[in-house]
Amino acid sequence: MDYSIKCDSPEKLTTDCLLLGFYSKRKLGPAATALDEALEGLITRLLKRDDLEGKAGDTLLVNHLSRGKIERLLLVGLGKKEELNASNYRKALSAAIGALKNSGAKNAVSTLHEAEIKGETLEWKIRQTVETFESALYRYTETKSADEKGKPPRLTKLQFLLDSETEQTNAETGLQQGRAIARGMSLARDLGNLPGNICTPSYLAEQAEKLGKAHKKLKVKILDEAELEELGMGSLLSVSKGSRQPAKLIVIEYPGGPAKSKPHVLVGKGLTFDAGGISIKPAANMDEMKYDMCGGASVIATLGVAAELELPLNVVGLVPASENLPDGSANKPGDIVTSLSGLTIEILNTDAEGRLILCDTLTYAKRYEPVAIIDTATLTGACIVALGRHPSGLMGNDDALCESLIRAGETSRDRVWRLPLWDEYQEQLKSNFADIANIGGPDGGTITAGCFLSRFAKDFKWAHVDIAGTAWKTGTDKGATGRPVPLLSQYLIDQAQ
Ligand code: BES
Ligand code: MN
Ligand code: ZN
Repeated sequence: MDYSIKCDSPEKLTTDCLLLGFYSKRKLGPAATALDEALEGLITRLLKRDDLEGKAGDTLLVNHLSRGKIERLLLVGLGKKEELNASNYRKALSAAIGALKNSGAKNAVSTLHEAEIKGETLEWKIRQTVETFESALYRYTETKSADEKGKPPRLTKLQFLLDSETEQTNAETGLQQGRAIARGMSLARDLGNLPGNICTPSYLAEQAEKLGKAHKKLKVKILDEAELEELGMGSLLSVSKGSRQPAKLIVIEYPGGPAKSKPHVLVGKGLTFDAGGISIKPAANMDEMKYDMCGGASVIATLGVAAELELPLNVVGLVPASENLPDGSANKPGDIVTSLSGLTIEILNTDAEGRLILCDTLTYAKRYEPVAIIDTATLTGACIVALGRHPSGLMGNDDALCESLIRAGETSRDRVWRLPLWDEYQEQLKSNFADIANIGGPDGGTITAGCFLSRFAKDFKWAHVDIAGTAWKTGTDKGATGRPVPLLSQYLIDQAQ
């Protein structure tokens, strides 16, 4: 959809649909008040007639107005005025786009950003609108036949109404960030939703190259198995041995900052299908393991966001890509491999493969002398047990870095919750035969996975974001969410300031 800013007063507009906010007890916002006057109290009357309380997410579509050039009104409940917060605001936005996309309107003007939310700027409100609306309008069509693709949505244009030009620059910034992040989320969702037989490690690498062609500033390099072998990435390669698809290490550099300033490195698990290997997974819902590359897709997409926003900092994206399948040459429980760091690993469960491809990538990342490394991965089912599907799990070896990710999560509404990486947990990774085991038993599975990675992250500031519960939705709404693109993008935006 096309988004822009418009300076005008609500009564003078020409539009297919005007979005107006109202609060509990039918209290109207400024734009709604102005229009209510122009319409001789129509809005107040209709809200009373339909007994609409103004809860966050209530909507009323006024489908016809007897005069003027506004075809429709969409009244959007925002809840109690004093209690309006980021979460209610997003709920109202979701309801608004839900009603708007089925209203028949081809274009619309929104005034919802005039609502005051403690601690949030106009820039933020506009950005959230673009992200929420684009997320709701997203459709996956790539593997549907023409008849099933359905018609494209009628709604193609949204304007944000400002009453003066004073805030136009802030509004433009919000628009620009919203567009870039929404585009990144949509790319991450498309890649995630594609099936494992299409989205292979090579396909993922090609998509990164395609992104590199679209943005002059991105440099993309793909390391193949021979190069990984040469480097000594024995842990990563042990996972891809059991697959006919060759592993790739996708390297994307965005040199947006001064040549001498150290980069932020983002690492994303790009496991394009995880059957578990010899420690094979149960059949139920195994299809969802096509989403095991969502961390990698988000890293690729976030590099696109950095380039689109021309952020003045250096960023590197690293995505180890592989399949994890059972095969005659696959890893077997008890096998011992030597990682790039030199540490030997006893593979007690071949299904704990994410950490095996990530650990070599973390070691590889050291060559960039990074400011910090953030990895993101659909790493443990235990994370869903611990935190459910609302926040991603956060762990790390640096409090300030973790704090900045928590803040970025709050701002972007792509939230994380920190788990402890205490030394006590490290005991669970002891191996009788190698330096470290790849699993830590049934207790605290998300944390012991974090502990495993921490052994390869001793020389730099590092944080790990487990997105097992947040990268996709299960059930009837099954599909990738595009998380943690907003989180990672916000982190980079904050670092650039
Ligand atoms: N990709 C999975 C983690 C996962 C499972 C994410 C279910 C989302 C939903 C990962 O590779 C895995 O299989 N982890 C194992 C680790 C265990 C063997 C220690 C798990 O979570 O069961
Ligand atoms: Mn696995
Ligand atoms: Zn996995």
